Amino acid sequence: MASTGPAPLPQDTPAPSNQHQYPHMHSSLFAQDDQQVELPLIDLQLLCQEDEAEIHKLLIAAKEWGFLQVANHGVSRKLRSEIEEQAYHAFTLPAETKARAEAAPGSAHGYLPKSSGADGNRPRLSEAFRLPLNPEKRADMIIKLWPEGNDTFSSVVEEYIAAVESILLQLLRSLASGLGLDPLQFTHDLSKDGNTAVLRMNFYSASSQPLPTLGFPAHSDPQILAILHQNSVDGLQILKDDKWIAVKPRPGSFVVNVGDTLQVMSHDMYPSVVHRVVMNSDHFRSSLVLAVAPHPQAIVRPAPQLVTEQRPSQYVPFTVEEYYSSMKSLPINAGKSNLDKFRIIPTLA
Ligand code: OGA
Ligand code: NI
Repeated sequence: MASTGPAPLPQDTPAPSNQHQYPHMHSSLFAQDDQQVELPLIDLQLLCQEDEAEIHKLLIAAKEWGFLQVANHGVSRKLRSEIEEQAYHAFTLPAETKARAEAAPGSAHGYLPKSSGADGNRPRLSEAFRLPLNPEKRADMIIKLWPEGNDTFSSVVEEYIAAVESILLQLLRSLASGLGLDPLQFTHDLSKDGNTAVLRMNFYSASSQPLPTLGFPAHSDPQILAILHQNSVDGLQILKDDKWIAVKPRPGSFVVNVGDTLQVMSHDMYPSVVHRVVMNSDHFRSSLVLAVAPHPQAIVRPAPQLVTEQRPSQYVPFTVEEYYSSMKSLPINAGKSNLDKFRIIPTLA
């Protein structure tokens, strides 16, 4: 184990897993009464200065919550409002224009329209643009929306990606060194070209339904780590201790969550968490999620230092590509069942 970096957390007990329990499949869309919470808040500047107390706070948050907020992150208010405005421009383009950027079947990029389900697709109440992090691939998608090009959209998106990606990289360095690992352990195979890392712009129109409606069904994110910027309209709920709790948006801060890939790489120390979005009946909600992931051929397995005789690997090694193709056969509200497919079930001797 590396001797540098802050003291690691005790590693005897991995974070609790909620595998095999999917209360969200049946539960009501209301979060528990008075269960609107503020997520643990991490100061990014302190992390950059390798402040031990802050790193410890981050590890506890990642371990116990899998979800946290980041403040003092250095992304200006101007850039945050510009990206929100650009996303709004894109979503308010005519439907025929947006359709030009529609995702090819099976592709992780492109526009996803709302769908009643009548076309044989799964019903979808929100729409999304999934923009590649690779600049050339992104430019191809942007030109489909604006054949003359759109310099403002392109440059704001580029600046935003660079800014939030560096936050994720800092968090991943701290999350690795806090476990006594090489700070680059979780970012070795990071991909810009592969089709798994994505900037996802989501748009949930104000719902006309009197009762809460699900805008994004219960899922965990497959990637390593995701960072979410949301407008001031709530709707995000996370499954914690088998209860749905509503996340209170904290103006100016980002929400960060662990994805399935990090759960495997950290050997269950940092669990991915099932979350969903409930539509608001008065206001539209917009959100931007940037998620980093390894390239498609990268092999995902627990960091070797976290595999011991007492706790042999809990996962069959898999490639990112395999993980995605196995996800396709599952329903959209599959929670964490894709991850469970790669889990080694102990057999009785
Ligand atoms: C996602 C997601 C939450 C939101 O895009 O994976 O969970 O608030 N979005 O839109
Ligand atoms: Ni998500």
